[in-house]
Amino acid sequence: MRAWQVVRHGSPSEALELRDVEPATPGPGQLLVRARASVLNYNEVDGCHGRYLTINPPLPYTLGMECVGEVIAAGPGQEAWLGRQVTTSGFGAFGSHADMVLASAAMTFDIPPGLADVEAAAFFYPFHLAHLGLFERGRLAAGETVLVHAAAGGVGSAAVQLALAAGAEVIATVGSEEKAEFVRKLGAQHVINYRTTDFADRTLEITQGRGVDACFDGVGGETMLQSLRCLARGGRHLMIGFASGIEAEEVPMVTGRMMCFGNFDLIGVILAYTPPEIVGQIAGASNMPVPRFNPPTTDIAQGVQDHLLSLLAAGKIRPLVGDEIPFEQLPEALEAMEARQTTGRYVLLR
Ligand SMILES: NC(=O)c1ccc[n+]([C@@H]2O[C@H](COP(=O)([O-])OP(=O)(O)OC[C@H]3O[C@@H](n4cnc5c(N)ncnc54)[C@H](OP(=O)(O)O)[C@@H]3O)[C@@H](O)[C@H]2O)c1
Repeated sequence: MRAWQVVRHGSPSEALELRDVEPATPGPGQLLVRARASVLNYNEVDGCHGRYLTINPPLPYTLGMECVGEVIAAGPGQEAWLGRQVTTSGFGAFGSHADMVLASAAMTFDIPPGLADVEAAAFFYPFHLAHLGLFERGRLAAGETVLVHAAAGGVGSAAVQLALAAGAEVIATVGSEEKAEFVRKLGAQHVINYRTTDFADRTLEITQGRGVDACFDGVGGETMLQSLRCLARGGRHLMIGFASGIEAEEVPMVTGRMMCFGNFDLIGVILAYTPPEIVGQIAGASNMPVPRFNPPTTDIAQGVQDHLLSLLAAGKIRPLVGDEIPFEQLPEALEAMEARQTTGRYVLLR
């Protein structure tokens, strides 16, 4: 089968080769999925460069976090999935940019009713991650104000939609006028182009000095530090990702004094429903040097999925497909993502 493998570290065009490899046999907690589509995720840019420590398997390995397709084989105890059409994640959060994907059963959901493959592909990660961040971890409530960074991106645009559906007021930041227009059309009440306007000053103006109740931050680094300037008392800063430089993940940036005086919460968010008994295999593959891994439980996963399906059925959220790309063009598409040229989710078709 065809698989896009990281064979050396570098830019996506330098790092990736399309190779012919054998499909894997699913073991405990695993499924084999014949993929019809997979999805670009910013973490894969860092994976190509070899600077993403969380998912850093030995070379060569097949890139790709998410995919959509049919379950064609199942590990022991997972037979109920056989023949079902699913959205899922490669086991260990890699391996999805291939014709057949060894998937994690704990991260597998039936394709939502009424969604075409490309829409289903753009649905799972962005909306689950945004939901976990805003509600499970961030306790966002109707009437509160949330600052969403990279709001035109895959995850950010899902966060904008979910926050609006929950009755929150959205202040969105983006890096271009084109993206600003995209986010305005989603209904965000305030959109700031951070290249022309200091987003923290403007956010304080909009909130009349009070600051925001939550900040959904997939950018990190300096953006995180500046965001703490406009977080309200009792505010929650949600650490979603580090698109401005994954190195920031390993650098201590916040002092106790900042937290005490700010009287706010710094909150980590992870999208992973992998049960603890198989985490060892994944950590072993990536040498992940974390002190503790606390994934949300499968009960939480199902609750999130149910809530998202009800919002989808009510027309309150919709997956945003930025572009559909032929399988052969993955490196160029990841380069565009690195250059901040993408909006919504980019879907790679078989
Ligand atoms: N916590 C988890 O479990 C988890 C899981 C999956 C993904 N993530 C994270 O979620 C975030 C969003 O992922 P995504 O796939 O939806 O990506 P994305 O938002 O579609 O793309 C990244 C965006 O980040 C902004 N950005 C700011 N500084 C940047 C820089 N120096 N280089 C490149 N981009 C920069 C750009 O938007 P502007 O032009 O508007 O600035 C860019 O379009 C990423 O940080 C990703 O790592 C976290």
